[in-house]
Amino acid sequence: MCGIVGYIGHREAYPIILKGLKRLEYRGYDSAGIALYDGADIKLSKTKGKVLDLEARLEKEISTKGTLGIGHTRWATHGVPNDVNSHPHYSNSGDLVIIHNGIIENYESLKKELIKRGYTFKSDTDTEVLINLIEDVKKNENTKLGKAVQIALNQVIGAYAIAVFDKNKPNEIVVARLGSPLAIGIGEDEFFIASDASPFIEYTKNAIYLEDEEMAIIRRDKGVKIRKIKDDSLVAPYIQELQLNLEQIEKGGYEHFMLKEIYEQPSAILDTFRGRLLINEAIIKMAGVEDNMKRFLNADRIIIVACGTSWHAGLVAEYIFEDLARIPVEVEYASEFRYRNPIITENDVVIAISQSGETADTLAAIKLAKSKGAFVFGVCNVVGSSIARETHAGAYTHAGPEIGVASTKAFTTQITVLTLIALRLARAKGTISSSDYRHNLIELELIPDKVKKALESDEYVKTIAAIYKDVHNFLYLGRGYNFPVALEGALKLKEISYIHAEGYPAAEMKHGPIALIDENMPIVVIATKKGHYEKVVSNIQEIKSRKGKIIGIVTEGDIQVKELADHVIEVPETIESLSPLLTTIPLQLLSYHIALMLGKNVDQPRNLAKAVTVE
Ligand code: F6R
Repeated sequence: MCGIVGYIGHREAYPIILKGLKRLEYRGYDSAGIALYDGADIKLSKTKGKVLDLEARLEKEISTKGTLGIGHTRWATHGVPNDVNSHPHYSNSGDLVIIHNGIIENYESLKKELIKRGYTFKSDTDTEVLINLIEDVKKNENTKLGKAVQIALNQVIGAYAIAVFDKNKPNEIVVARLGSPLAIGIGEDEFFIASDASPFIEYTKNAIYLEDEEMAIIRRDKGVKIRKIKDDSLVAPYIQELQLNLEQIEKGGYEHFMLKEIYEQPSAILDTFRGRLLINEAIIKMAGVEDNMKRFLNADRIIIVACGTSWHAGLVAEYIFEDLARIPVEVEYASEFRYRNPIITENDVVIAISQSGETADTLAAIKLAKSKGAFVFGVCNVVGSSIARETHAGAYTHAGPEIGVASTKAFTTQITVLTLIALRLARAKGTISSSDYRHNLIELELIPDKVKKALESDEYVKTIAAIYKDVHNFLYLGRGYNFPVALEGALKLKEISYIHAEGYPAAEMKHGPIALIDENMPIVVIATKKGHYEKVVSNIQEIKSRKGKIIGIVTEGDIQVKELADHVIEVPETIESLSPLLTTIPLQLLSYHIALMLGKNVDQPRNLAKAVTVE
């Protein structure tokens, strides 16, 4: 996820783009850049860091004159955040310049072809490949920029929102989208481009939101012409009048970043397996795993180190790795692991999981494991973060920035990456049959749509939240794959509503927590059809006979739990190992609504920081 802004019109472009980038910083903040056309040439300045760093540098480096320009705030996907990888990117001739939000999956093969044709590359980005592909098409086919963009995009696999201009045609900007948002603001003889409407809301309320597979040629003198990228057909522009204010736009119309991030999970999970899960070939492609396959296959065991929600994702992974790949797994709190003189050998593989990639305890655990000769693999969200750099290899979750302090989409995308790794290893080790392997891939591909379906419970979950918002304690129970989900559900409730909550393996209830149960205790029980269902139903009966209030998370069409529970929230059916990706959704929503009803600061709960960089 990155933020893109552009302007073409009669005003100075720089202040509009700079302010726009500041507003889009919630979409990405590891580097920023602006390219302006000053009437003769393109002037470009970019830097690692925040938009403020760019502002300080740009004003010293280049003239800020010009009525045409594009700007970018980056959330790295290919290539670490540094000055060179920052956008905008020039084509080899220096005539074209581009900004891009998204991932070009087949960039490596395109790059090889372009290198054969004499192109050179300064950065590690997929975006520089795209702009040179456009340049190559433009030259070879002798076409205008718009046509060249269209032909190039038809060769691209992946997701994008792009804006491109040519210094020889400074009256137009070409934009296109597939899978990443792009809005065009329509003013009086001026046009604005942005990832959302926040950069141009004070200039115009009229906007066109491009649909997937559409491109637009925006001409200073002739306005906006929209075409389908695939078949070149013209699309009549649909101009909307914006009703939202600035803050609502940044949060995508959601009241809080947390809710936005909960709702982003279908697309975040899709982005996580995009280009990695190749369903037609039944292949999982992850460079970090392939390049180190021997280390994984020869591992005596896998040790997972993490904190908080990431630790819960690690617990889910323990079930997945042991079940599918038959590799022994230990899951450790990084803070305990680093201080207890653990036995680590060169035959161990350590997987460190961290959304921020900056958690001090996880970082220290990695350093310790490395010092003992273990191979350390990172699963991080923030590209170029300390943990991503400290590990020997890794896989990013590609969830996009998570702003709400309570982790939501990081959790489900971590589980997605870990599932991909486990399946890949299982295939390599031969611990999974080819039909089961295929079945797993198919089920994983269906998950984004099933998460969407699970989100439909939102209104109903809100009614449950209203009933229980004033209680002082909650219990969460789950078995097998859903035991870590119970822990995660309890953590979500604690951290944003400040209600005391405990997660337990359902069968552990008899060994102590059952003493807490009376008619005032709500108990969330995850009781999906696959995996120990009958046993969980017995646990529910035990709760019922002690008058506890039961909120069941069940598989669609469930009958047994429905008869026993006070409330049931349905999630779609899937295979057992993927059920945490669905059962966690209503628990995120429940904690969100309770916290909101209690008037708590959902996005910034008291005492908590998004990245815990101290031990
Ligand atoms: C919970 C939460 C924390 C983090 C933990 C680890 O919602 O956000 O428990 O999961 O601090 O952070 P990362 O994943 O950045 O290492």
